[in-house]
Amino acid sequence: MNKIEELRQEAMEKISNAENMNVLNDLRVAFMGKKGPVQDLMKGMKDLSKEEKPAFGQKVNQLKSELSSLIEQKKVELEAKEMLAQIEHEKIDITLPGRKPVVGNTHPLNLITQELEDLFIGLGYQVIEGPDVVDDLYCFERANIPKDHPARDMQDSLYINDNELLRTHTTAIQMVVLEQMAPNPIKVVCPGKVYRRDDDDATHSHQFMQMEGLVVGEGITLSDLKGTLLFLARKMFGQDKQIRFRPSYFPFTEPSVEVDVTCHICGGKGCPTCKGTGWIEILGAGEVNPNVLKMAGYDPEKVSGFAFGVGIERVAMLKYGIDDIRHFYTNDLRFTSQFKRFE
Ligand code: DAH
Repeated sequence: MNKIEELRQEAMEKISNAENMNVLNDLRVAFMGKKGPVQDLMKGMKDLSKEEKPAFGQKVNQLKSELSSLIEQKKVELEAKEMLAQIEHEKIDITLPGRKPVVGNTHPLNLITQELEDLFIGLGYQVIEGPDVVDDLYCFERANIPKDHPARDMQDSLYINDNELLRTHTTAIQMVVLEQMAPNPIKVVCPGKVYRRDDDDATHSHQFMQMEGLVVGEGITLSDLKGTLLFLARKMFGQDKQIRFRPSYFPFTEPSVEVDVTCHICGGKGCPTCKGTGWIEILGAGEVNPNVLKMAGYDPEKVSGFAFGVGIERVAMLKYGIDDIRHFYTNDLRFTSQFKRFE
């Protein structure tokens, strides 16, 4: 019985003084574990007389439950203490100035593309994209540029094989749209990258971006084209702008036109930027060539359409006053971070 009391004293004292959970765990194992003194006492019962056993057993059990509840109590106490210590340790000073996250911005070419897309979506157009690698059929044949046509000279590209190439213009998407969509009417714009064999300089790049426009339906005329492009020019360059059509040639349109917009520098009076003409060329366009409609399965007597192709870099350079096309591709944040959507 003395032994029990001694053990009780010792255990109580040690458990009460445990400083942390590790110590407490060790104590629990040391006193209550299978090889611990409490268990030893239990084992020792067999050597006692019948009369002594019940009172002894009761005492040991009492000791066991006392120690268990003390350990439990101490555990709650220590856990709370450790939690407080942790909170103290992790405290942050909310009065310190914050670190600003670095927020990027949209590349100027994507800004222009998005602005044009929004403008045409507002007019009821769909935005259609296509793969960069296209069949000769859609890049050239269907665009009324057969194998021996001189227009191919201006649009050499990287060929994947005899039949597939990196598209040289977004007109290739136009030809797929013509084949796949029914005119009720077709109203699409097709933005994307295009590729050409070219020597890079301030105004040329072997890879650049275009957006193609196509409208096909009954009674679509050149005046619809003109109204649409005037709307585009004014939205992109200012409500005071005018446009003019100059006769031109593209195999896939007839008649074909180059479209000029009032010079943004001199307002039309004539200056070095517009070479004294008062006009700046912005895009090529025309009425869809009847041959193109026929090849795509339409009757050109029943439907007609207009198409245009605008260079995204060109629009961006004019709009933002950028003097070298290569700025767009060098990923210099000092350049690309200057452009915002809604100035
Ligand atoms: N595909 C022409 C080019 O890359 C641009 C173009 C001109 C597209 C007239 C058209 C168009 O749809 O009607 O030079």
